[in-house]
Amino acid sequence: MKIGKPFPLGIFGQRLATNSSQEHSNKGGFMEIYEALKKDHVELKQLLNELIALKDDDDYRYVLVEEIRNALVPHSRAEESVFYNTLRSVNADKNIVFHGYQEHMEAEGLLRTLQVMDKMNMGWRAVATKLLEAVSHHIQEEETEIFAEARKVFTSEEAIAMCEAFEELKPKVLKEGFLGTTADMVINLMPPRLADSIRNFGQGHQSH
Ligand SMILES: [Fe+2]
Ligand SMILES: [Fe+2]
Repeated sequence: MKIGKPFPLGIFGQRLATNSSQEHSNKGGFMEIYEALKKDHVELKQLLNELIALKDDDDYRYVLVEEIRNALVPHSRAEESVFYNTLRSVNADKNIVFHGYQEHMEAEGLLRTLQVMDKMNMGWRAVATKLLEAVSHHIQEEETEIFAEARKVFTSEEAIAMCEAFEELKPKVLKEGFLGTTADMVINLMPPRLADSIRNFGQGHQSH
């Protein structure tokens, strides 16, 4: 199946326009979604390692926890919306994609626990370590199983278009804030027909 533009699902009810003329900086060529995701994965693991290496009472952890949230949540929402949902819409193994969703939920549950424990200055390192383990496990599966499945069904051109949509969406998630992000995660999991009607209902509702 050829992936139509725009992509079948986008969070915040937005259809994703892609700009295939946009150039990326990887050796003067175009970046595929896999490279963009890997780049974020490295960054996220670095931030978590940096956090774990801090002393118990180092206040810099507040900055790092915020940075971890700002890296993890936009990455996950944009990845679900652009990559996972496009993968679900083609003839690919849906189970590994759903497993990926599940791990996103687990990681964000740990992130919320970390935010609370951090503020109360208790046991934050144990939670941060758990989060690093969960994220590392997820990244490993994503970069092997999910990427392999995706490479079977997407052309390089499609992988480049997804990369552009992914990079466009991340700052929007950050800008919109995270209040609606759990709802978006649920909407991202729904079949496109239902997801669209829920979004339309939400938009109509807000205007009253
Ligand atoms: Fe990822
Ligand atoms: Fe992921």
